[in-house]
Amino acid sequence: MKPITVTLIVNEQPRTITTEPNRTLLYALRDDLGLYGAKDACGGEGECGACTVILDGEPVNSCLVLAGQADGCHVETIEGLAAGGQLHPLQRAFVETGAVQCGFCTPGAILAAKALLDRLPDPTDDQIREALSGNLCRCTGYTKMIAAVRRAAEDMSHVR
Ligand code: FES
Ligand code: FES
Repeated sequence: MKPITVTLIVNEQPRTITTEPNRTLLYALRDDLGLYGAKDACGGEGECGACTVILDGEPVNSCLVLAGQADGCHVETIEGLAAGGQLHPLQRAFVETGAVQCGFCTPGAILAAKALLDRLPDPTDDQIREALSGNLCRCTGYTKMIAAVRRAAEDMSHVR
């Protein structure tokens, strides 16, 4: 297959890759760009949400998007969240509430939560549950993850 060239804005940095046309965004991020935060926990079947990234403002399963489809798009990954040596409020809240156990689902869950808070800064618990419903976690039972998102929303409301 003839390689394709794809230009993405990843965490606000322009990145150009030459890759196979059937390469998913997940594996372009991991293998072509060395960004390993997005995970594959279901064999790329769109079931687990561990590969969630934010694509032009929307949370997506990056295993279901071809890299070529993301040409020219803005991609946010977990690597871009901390700024100036400070964790993002969601990252801090996940740590402080004990919402991180094995951590495998955590990058995807945090990005799904970030997309929610970007759109809806003061969500209800039901809206948080809905936003996280595509992110499977074997460890936390979700109570702590929901508490973490609520806490981050409160923390972020103080800086607005
Ligand atoms: Fe499981 Fe993408 S790797 S949904
Ligand atoms: Fe282990 Fe979610 S913290 S799968």
